[in-house]
Amino acid sequence: MVFNINGKFAIITGGASGIGLHYAKELLRNGLQGVTLADINPTIGKTALEEIEKEFGPGKAIFVETDVTSRQQLENAFQKTVDRFKHIDILINNAGILNDRVWEREIDINMNGTIHGILLATEKFLTKYQQGPEAVIVNIASTAAWDFYPHIPIYSATKSAVIALTKSWGVEHFYNKWNIRFIAVCPGVTFTPLIFDMNGRNLGKPYEEYLQFTINKWPGQKPEHVAEEVMRVIKFAPNGTAWLIEGGEPAYEVIPIDRNTQKKNLLQEN
Ligand SMILES: NC(=O)c1ccc[n+]([C@@H]2O[C@H](COP(=O)([O-])OP(=O)(O)OC[C@H]3O[C@@H](n4cnc5c(N)ncnc54)[C@H](O)[C@@H]3O)[C@@H](O)[C@H]2O)c1
Repeated sequence: MVFNINGKFAIITGGASGIGLHYAKELLRNGLQGVTLADINPTIGKTALEEIEKEFGPGKAIFVETDVTSRQQLENAFQKTVDRFKHIDILINNAGILNDRVWEREIDINMNGTIHGILLATEKFLTKYQQGPEAVIVNIASTAAWDFYPHIPIYSATKSAVIALTKSWGVEHFYNKWNIRFIAVCPGVTFTPLIFDMNGRNLGKPYEEYLQFTINKWPGQKPEHVAEEVMRVIKFAPNGTAWLIEGGEPAYEVIPIDRNTQKKNLLQEN
């Protein structure tokens, strides 16, 4: 089944800048009727709305000031979406920071924020206000979910958690109850404010040294490319799957473990 974006409504956390804003624009190019940018920063929110209005005309987007670490604030963003657009068909849990120096806040945004989004969607909003035949939740992880970057171990852990959430919820049992498809997306290095200055966003000297060792190892890409690939993922990816997008190349599925082929990796006692 192909998910038809045309005529649908979406809410994007952290949607006022970076890749999140590109998701909004790309969805609108694919015929989305309306989008809510649920972001903590009202200044960039205003600019984002102006950009969207310039390209797509008036009435296509609203901004709701939202800190995803607060269930109440995120619920307010969902409610405002329903008040304005009547429906919600797509949720992109995209808000995230990369800063292990404030790791409790990082966990709160990257992991708890995603959980708040999923719970609000499944307990109330996407179950009740989707147009059908199904709704979609896209959880934004990272290549860090699989590579476990030593210079940012806690960021990496938050992104592995996003995969676990997607896999646990993305099963037939829940799909049959709610008609919600769960997908994880794992972008590689993408040129946005998140990575403009990595220095000082780790736990100190040993991590800084590792960053210098690894910094040019990974291929970069434009946020536009990630957004275009995410549209294909929204349309075609099966429930519970995770998709890696890196170096400007097409998305490919990442499959966690196959117990049977790994059974031969026995512990050597010498
Ligand atoms: N840029 C990359 O290389 C890269 C790679 C892999 C994954 N990602 C992930 O993609 C997502 C978007 O990243 P980006 O590169 O566009 O970053 P960005 O910094 O450009 O955008 C993040 C957005 O989230 C918002 N935000 C931050 N804290 C928030 C909160 N508490 N509540 C609501 N909104 C909040 C910011 O205001 C900003 O608009 C993040 O989850 C990030 O971890 C980025």
